[in-house]
Amino acid sequence: MNGKIVRNTPLAEGVMDMRMETALNNPAPGRFVHIAVPGFPLRRPISLCGYENGEARLVYAVKGGGTAALAVLREGDCVDLLGALGNGYAPAPGLKTLLVGGGVGLPPLLYYAKTHPGTHTIAGCRTNGQKVLVDEFPSVDFCTDDGSAGFHGFPHQRLELLLKNGELPDRVLSCGPLPLLRAVAEVCKGYSIPCFVSMEERMGCGIGACLVCACAAGGHYRRVCKDGPVFDAAEISWEEVLL
Ligand SMILES: Cc1cc2nc3c(=O)[nH]c(=O)nc-3n(C[C@H](O)[C@H](O)[C@H](O)COP(=O)(O)OP(=O)(O)OC[C@H]3O[C@@H](n4cnc5c(N)ncnc54)[C@H](O)[C@@H]3O)c2cc1C
Ligand code: FES
Repeated sequence: MNGKIVRNTPLAEGVMDMRMETALNNPAPGRFVHIAVPGFPLRRPISLCGYENGEARLVYAVKGGGTAALAVLREGDCVDLLGALGNGYAPAPGLKTLLVGGGVGLPPLLYYAKTHPGTHTIAGCRTNGQKVLVDEFPSVDFCTDDGSAGFHGFPHQRLELLLKNGELPDRVLSCGPLPLLRAVAEVCKGYSIPCFVSMEERMGCGIGACLVCACAAGGHYRRVCKDGPVFDAAEISWEEVLL
């Protein structure tokens, strides 16, 4: 499948906002596209940050060679991609859903928040200068690790405060760095609140064939690309995942 770049501009230092025309199959929040980057043998997985009228939005950090090559693509350039892939966040009409995320874990949560009115979000960044997407959430609590803006602390600490104050959601959806996902899962467990996390593993095929993306969940290895990336946090063997 082809993606034609409509726009690819910086959102903050080292973070790009890409829009591309592409006909995706079931482009639901939490699912991802697997992009063939010119000059690199392996595709790069990037979550959907939005999809409207045949246009996908991808927000990605420039980490290494692959994302640096993506960042120089311009309007009219085309990429080959697969998607949308994986299991996203299951919709749960009538349930009070709280989103908790940090850094470049925010794109899929923003997509969920925009398409599921009534959700509240706890969004964290290291420092105010690295704030991305936060102002686009319909209802948000902002946290910074260094206290430069919003709540001074990590998103899971803000979550714990809300829960202590009796503001209990029916479920929590989370995306971000693995240590944050683990901490969010632990807080939710303490209050018996179902929690679903989007796991991140290095990927090969992206379609369940190579097992590169195996993750210990539910007592055996599951494929992040096909069985996930969204999993019930209670199933994840965090000690193995964070080795
Ligand atoms: C399901 C999923 C969704 C993602 N969504 C986003 C997103 O919305 N925004 C965003 O900024 N990042 C996202 N990532 C992370 C992104 O895929 C990596 O940052 C990117 O692949 C790094 O490639 P690179 O060539 O720049 O870095 P390098 O480190 O040079 O990559 C080398 C190899 O490792 C793989 N790789 C490196 N880091 C990761 C990683 N963290 N996860 C998976 N593969 C990795 C690359 O695909 C490549 O094969 C997602 C990862 C997954 C698994
Ligand atoms: S990346 Fe090949 S099985 Fe998941």
